[in-house]
Amino acid sequence: MINVQEIRKDFPILSSKVGAADLIYLDNAATTQMPECVIQRIKRHYLEDNANVHRGIYGLSSRSTAAFEAARETVRAFLNAASAEEIIFTSGTTDSINMVANGIKDQIKKGDCIVVTQLEHHSNFMPWQRVCQNTGAEFIIVGCPDGRFDMEEFQRAMSKKPKLVAATQVSNLTGTVLPLDEIISVAHNAGAQVLVDGAQGIRHGETDVIAMDCEYYCFSGHKIMGPTGIGVLYGKKQCLESLEPDRLGGGMVDIVTAERSAYKSLPYRLEAGTPNYVGAIGLAAALEYLKSIGMSEIGAYEKELVQYAEYRLSEIPEIRILGNPKERRGVLSMVTDGIHPFDATSILDKMGVAVRSGNHCAQPALKMLGADKALRVSPAFYNTKEEIDKACEAFKKSIIYLLRQRCD
Ligand code: ALA
Repeated sequence: MINVQEIRKDFPILSSKVGAADLIYLDNAATTQMPECVIQRIKRHYLEDNANVHRGIYGLSSRSTAAFEAARETVRAFLNAASAEEIIFTSGTTDSINMVANGIKDQIKKGDCIVVTQLEHHSNFMPWQRVCQNTGAEFIIVGCPDGRFDMEEFQRAMSKKPKLVAATQVSNLTGTVLPLDEIISVAHNAGAQVLVDGAQGIRHGETDVIAMDCEYYCFSGHKIMGPTGIGVLYGKKQCLESLEPDRLGGGMVDIVTAERSAYKSLPYRLEAGTPNYVGAIGLAAALEYLKSIGMSEIGAYEKELVQYAEYRLSEIPEIRILGNPKERRGVLSMVTDGIHPFDATSILDKMGVAVRSGNHCAQPALKMLGADKALRVSPAFYNTKEEIDKACEAFKKSIIYLLRQRCD
């Protein structure tokens, strides 16, 4: 059991006020808050060890480089990757996925196909759509009616022998936990590589990319209590080596002449330009912090919280929760007839409740669920059931207020 009240002391922002109300931060799917130890770690690097990495042989640069490479090792251990060469620092999940899509596109041709799911975030949908449009490959979207992955439809799609399957670990709209073990095994049997978008999945439990056996796994620092602007692309070594570097520049080349350039080996060949080394160091501090609490404990509590939120919200008759997945984690989205989610969010904000409204960069999923905008609640392990109770009271008040406005 985790001690939420103790944990909350690590996150000073959680004690802030919105006007007279206590902040109830329930927008963790958009970004999570950083514990003070991560903020301090970043500050310490700037105060004591800051210099560009892999570019200087003076002491300060060596210390900065050592801290950056130690961060890579921390990420490796967190994911249980086989080697630190398989960890590429990017600016976030979107960047990681685009790096694979742009790096793999020369291997895709007319007659091939790429498979995604209907629950993908735009960033794990559009890059593959474009690869298919530009190469003439077929773009297949596997349905997820009512937020449930359709395994039979997926199996039928596998008869086309796709080159790649891109699937999210957890939907950022419905919180659906996709059956990745089965997806990956079925995809491999069909000869496809698998890219997993871990942006919403990573913070809900242990991650083991060797056991998962995906070819690529992507996530963002800011969705796992780390800083913004840092993300990770994990890839099996031979897969990363097969990617054409999307970006060229400093740090990723051995030799440049008028005739040719020779790239460095992994991981550097995919990290052109000065990397966000301070972001990586902050991310590593966040992962160490989470490990000290226990990823399984965090996952179990977050599961309990989202189940509790679903139970409480389902008591409000005006609310329709989107999707009915077998397993839900981290996220609940909802709509209310006659109420625009932006109006509800603005009123909730006045009561201290921070939630996100919009299309959540998941328009294909929203359309399938019969909505074009939704209000989303996404708790994290520093939230409490009392906060969810207060948020539900605020939902009720906002619904009453907005429906009354409509009648007046
Ligand atoms: N991708 C983030 C979300 O789903 C921003 O809210």
